[in-house]
Amino acid sequence: MTTPSHSPRGADEPSSPPPGCPAHGLGPGGLRRLYGPEADADLAGIYEKLRAEHGSVAPVLVHDDVPIWAVIGHTEVLHMLRTRTHFTRDSRRLRVVQDGTFRPDNPLAPMVTWAPLISFADGAEHQRVRGAINDALAAIDDRGLRRFIHRSSQRLVNEFCETGTADLVSQFAEHLPMAVMCEVLGMPDEYNERLVQAGRDMTKGSETAVASNEYVMEVLNRHTARRRADPKEDFTSRLLTHPAQLADDEVAQNLRVVLIAAHEGTANLMANVLRMVLTDPRFRAQLNGGQMTVPEAIEQSLWDEPPMSAQLAYAAIQDAELGGKQIKAGDALMYVSSAGNLDPVVRPDPKASMAGNRAHLAFGGGAHECPGQDIARAIADIGVDALLMRLPDAELAVDEKELRWRQTIIARHLVELPVTFTPRPQQDVKLRPTMGGVPAPRSEWEVSTPAPAQRSLATVPAQASAEDRSEQRLAPIPAAPPAGDEEPPRGALQRLLRWWRGY
Ligand code: HEM
Repeated sequence: MTTPSHSPRGADEPSSPPPGCPAHGLGPGGLRRLYGPEADADLAGIYEKLRAEHGSVAPVLVHDDVPIWAVIGHTEVLHMLRTRTHFTRDSRRLRVVQDGTFRPDNPLAPMVTWAPLISFADGAEHQRVRGAINDALAAIDDRGLRRFIHRSSQRLVNEFCETGTADLVSQFAEHLPMAVMCEVLGMPDEYNERLVQAGRDMTKGSETAVASNEYVMEVLNRHTARRRADPKEDFTSRLLTHPAQLADDEVAQNLRVVLIAAHEGTANLMANVLRMVLTDPRFRAQLNGGQMTVPEAIEQSLWDEPPMSAQLAYAAIQDAELGGKQIKAGDALMYVSSAGNLDPVVRPDPKASMAGNRAHLAFGGGAHECPGQDIARAIADIGVDALLMRLPDAELAVDEKELRWRQTIIARHLVELPVTFTPRPQQDVKLRPTMGGVPAPRSEWEVSTPAPAQRSLATVPAQASAEDRSEQRLAPIPAAPPAGDEEPPRGALQRLLRWWRGY
């Protein structure tokens, strides 16, 4: 069998097969391509063919026919992520980078080309940068964040609630995470349609991905320079002033990781959860019956449709065996969360509910496991909850079968989610200019929603919103209501409720 180590570009290239030929979609060495027409049509189907042909680790080709191992077994993914002596994210070690097979203009370059950022760091260097990012995330005021998410959701709904129709992907799911992350980073003025589109484009592996990456970096370099000169109470300033002493370029590059991971991942998650809410009759019935919560739908969706379906590119540090395959030092590997989540070893019945089980691969694992997952859950939970509260009769405007998806090697997302609903007036939303002051880091800070078993609507009032439920856990003993610039609430109960919700 040909492996990524043994299939230089162009070798054994079959003459172009006609469409419909069984060899269609195969590249040099007879390896399956994870790009091109066949992959665009059904990438998940290719992974299942690979599982049948090769087991949990399969040799494949990505853009420009660059050879790579696709790790598609659940156990093997975790083994690779947790064995730092054998596998690294330092892409300078990749043979395909060293020998020029992977060219700088490859559409996957933003995800593969080494840069001084957390994703490509290893060992002590990774701990230095990760420590700074963890500390900067931990200093976020979780109540202020929840309030901001809620109000941003309301503002977005205000933009279409009077019309009776909306596309929940382009008008809601794609905007909320970027609005929230621009606020977290301290650059709310940079939040605009162009940044939303550039963020999406960078991860599409499209021809314009490199240009979009340049635009995002221009914004982040400018913002970093501004905050270096004038630090404020935000994530960016905390990175710049952290004892880890990150250079400006490091800060800007790491802001890109945070911004893009947060934007792309959370937008996809929200779209997937909204689709589930709108199309899955069991979910709707259960939701009305008070059994299934939005957080449970989020977790199920993270199993069924991980928002980032695959991660590029890990490098083998030394020769190793993985899933029965001989991996050579310098080989490239990618892990496929979507395929790993469907591994029959851990999930014999893919239709079975995964309630209470968070062992999915949607947030990766090992040293590089996503540090922002609780924020992602908070954005999706509060955003979807707010939308359902405002537009409870929203219905899909087309047949579910007509929904279109855009598939790339690293993500699969809904192109649009058109809905109709009874037109409603806008709601008054007074957004403060910032998330508010940032208190000292808390040792037990967590934005996440409780594990599904703990988090049932049965434990909180039936009409409680996402903030109600989470604030109940975060702050069981109400203290004084926060000072705000909004209309004073009437009555003690309302005051308590507003304090409780955090908005
Ligand atoms: C649903 C939304 C999200 C998904 C699916 C997601 C997924 C992931 C995955 C799979 C990784 C690991 C990549 C690897 O193996 O190298 C990762 C890393 C990372 N994520 Fe997320 N993410 C999401 C949201 C966020 C948010 C909201 C933030 C920040 C607030 C964030 C910040 C990061 C950072 C900084 C890393 C790099 C960690 C490291 O290399 O040590 N992510 N994310």
